[in-house]
Formats: sequence, structure tokens, C-alpha cells
Amino acid sequence: MTALVPGTFDPLTLGHFDVIRRAAALFDEVLVAVAPSSSKGPWFSQPERAELAAEACRDLPNVRVDTFQGLLVQYAEQQGCRVIVKGLRAVSDFEFELQMAHANRLQAPRIETLFVMADGQHSFLSSSIVRELARFGGDLSLLVPPNIIEPVRRRAAERNREARHIY
Ligand code: COA
Repeated sequence: MTALVPGTFDPLTLGHFDVIRRAAALFDEVLVAVAPSSSKGPWFSQPERAELAAEACRDLPNVRVDTFQGLLVQYAEQQGCRVIVKGLRAVSDFEFELQMAHANRLQAPRIETLFVMADGQHSFLSSSIVRELARFGGDLSLLVPPNIIEPVRRRAAERNREARHIY
């Protein structure tokens, strides 16, 4: 059975990677589905986010990465996936995830959403924390997979230069 692990992954963090790795140990195959997220104004384009995620997961043989547009459950159905796996970091994630899981279930009752509890070490972690730390030169080595450190640093430097130019 193939499990879908969706997200914006701007960028993929060690928290996301932990969820993907654990799903890969439970299912035959994991499809990491990278969302467009135009509303969030991502640092990386959708293809860039997918490429970084694919490189981070290259040692997990049953994991592949793809991009999608539109509704997640429609994409899941097209791909023949009946399970969506998501990570829960804290109680604060629960309400939003519950809403999404119910909305997805109304659209596609055959598809189940399963949750794994994020590792305690990663319960504070989010992509925006990573971006914020990067902008101020923080240490990213315990937050993102090794291949993602440099691209995030470079993008942070570009964003800082752009911000200086504007003000
Ligand atoms: N470890 C670390 N961070 C995590 C995490 C984990 N296990 N799980 C979530 N996060 C963080 C992300 O880093 C992100 O942080 P940021 O806001 O600081 O960037 C935040 O939680 C939200 O994660 P995101 O990847 O944006 O996922 P989401 O839970 O908001 O859902 C989709 C994203 C793509 C699954 C969802 O928007 C979707 O399904 N979109 C398609 C359209 C659709 O079908 N909509 C109907 C849904 S009801």
C-alpha cells in the first residue's frame, strides 16, 4: 500500500523527514506530495521544494517525491493512494488537522488520514522557524537535512539583500 505524505515543505525539515521515514517503515511505498502554496509566498518554488525533498529522501528506497495542484484527495485518488499520513507536533496542530481530515473525508470517504506523533525533539520545529533562523544566521544543522542547509542559507542571504534594497 502507498501512503501519501503531503506538505508545503518550504523547506522540508527534520520533523517532516522523521514523519516520512516512519511512514516508509510502515507502508510499501511513500509518495511525498509537494503542494503549490501560492498563498504562503514560499521561499522556494514548487519544483525547487520537490527537488530538495527528493534529495533529502534519496536513501529511502521506497520514497518518491512529486508535486500536485488542486485538491489533495483528488491527487491521492489519481495516484491510487488510500492513506494520507501527517505529523502532529502539539495540541495546537490538532484542531486544524481535524478540520482538514473531516473536509478531505467528505470529499473522498475512501481515503483515510493517519497521524503520527512528531518526535519530541521536533515538536517545536516548523519551516517558518527554519526560515527565521536562517535570516539571522542561526545554526540549521539540527533542523533540516544536510542538503537543505546551503540552499536555505543562500535564499536567506538573497532575501536579506532584497529587504535592504527596499528599505
Ligand atoms: N515537522 C515539522 N514541521 C511541520 C510538521 C512536522 N511533522 N508538520 C507540519 N509542519 C509545519 C510546516 O513546516 C509548516 O510550517 P510553516 O507554516 O511555518 O511553514 C506548517 O506546519 C504547515 O505545514 P504545511 O506543510 O503547510 O502543511 P499543512 O498541514 O498546512 O497542509 C497541505 C498542507 C498541502 C496538506 C494542505 O494545504 C492541502 O491539502 N492542500 C491542497 C488543497 C486541498 O486539498 N485543500 C483542502 C484541504 S481541507
